[in-house]
Amino acid sequence: MRITEVLHMNGGIGDSSYANNSLLQQNVILMTKPITEEAITKLYTSLNNPKTISIADLGCSSGPNTLLAVSNIVKAVDNHRKKLRRRHSPEFQIYLNDLPANDFNTIFQSLPKHEEDLRRELGDGFGPCFFNGVPGSFYGRLFPTDSLHFVHSSYSLHWLSQVPKGIEENKGNIRMETTSPPSVIKAYYNQFEQDFSTFLKCRSKELVKGGRMVLTMQGRSSENPTCHLWELLTLALNEIIAEGFVEEEKLNSFNVPLYTPSLAEVKFIVEKEGSFTIDCIEASQIYWTGYNGTDDYEVNNGYGVARSLRAVVEPMLVSHFGEGIIDELFHRYTKMIVDSISTRPEITQFTNVIVSLIKM
Ligand SMILES: C[S@@+](CC[C@H](N)C(=O)[O-])C[C@H]1O[C@@H](n2cnc3c(N)ncnc32)[C@H](O)[C@@H]1O
Repeated sequence: MRITEVLHMNGGIGDSSYANNSLLQQNVILMTKPITEEAITKLYTSLNNPKTISIADLGCSSGPNTLLAVSNIVKAVDNHRKKLRRRHSPEFQIYLNDLPANDFNTIFQSLPKHEEDLRRELGDGFGPCFFNGVPGSFYGRLFPTDSLHFVHSSYSLHWLSQVPKGIEENKGNIRMETTSPPSVIKAYYNQFEQDFSTFLKCRSKELVKGGRMVLTMQGRSSENPTCHLWELLTLALNEIIAEGFVEEEKLNSFNVPLYTPSLAEVKFIVEKEGSFTIDCIEASQIYWTGYNGTDDYEVNNGYGVARSLRAVVEPMLVSHFGEGIIDELFHRYTKMIVDSISTRPEITQFTNVIVSLIKM
């Protein structure tokens, strides 16, 4: 499986699209907004009335979140400019990056309305903004040397550049799971350390000195890297295999390239790589979909969770197992999630690790 070709969220704006099933990720962007705003305003203040600010959102996907993240950033700059009584707005170079299979067309089509909304909200003195699509992997160079001021990335860096090598023993599992041998967990960590270090190295070349990054990843709060929701997907796949829809060998060769780091692991890798200082790092908890800790069934039911996961993993599953199993698989998976959530709503709780960095 070539990750750069098959890893992308469901495109378009239909029922299964990422655009319509990314509420968790939207809540993460809103939750981490104060840290992002603090970083961009400190940067803007330090730049002393810059003509241009270059901002990149890495792993932007396609949907409302893509432009939500960057518009929060430019609004924070404009509000701070007014507070500092600087007369001229900087021009904004905005780079939206994702893997080449991402649905960039849907983003581009939404730009005119987005620009109009920004101008209406911030007034004529603001901007202009120049939007650019940047297809490519953030585990390689994407921009010229010293060309960026600010990098933002939300819920993307837990995706690895490849399935870790040496995990042939992970039979019957699709990720790190309760029955995975320790060597598999170690292989996943090693791949994360290598990928995240490469990411930091590339960005350290592209950011100007004093440039900043705010990165949010899906992480974990304990030593245990397994996740019940993924294990249910494995169970659903195993059921389908038992009934002869798919050969067992197909499952044995399928592994999802996703690692959820702890705060300590992120801190360790940043310090070891050595190009950035940590301005702040924290972990927070969030519930998938609208789970709000109440008994509101409509808000908390598992259908939304299943649809959100489908929007994320369907392209990868189709590429490995073919289209034929998808509806049946998600029918079973949805039922499993709904049943599990009714007794254990906490299974939809996720940890985020957010880190704000300054280029040395
Ligand atoms: C869960 S989505 C998050 C999208 C958006 N940032 C949000 O918060 O809604 C993760 C995105 O990261 C992208 N991605 C994963 N690995 C990547 C890589 N190596 N380079 C660029 N984008 C990547 C995926 O294609 C996907 O669109």
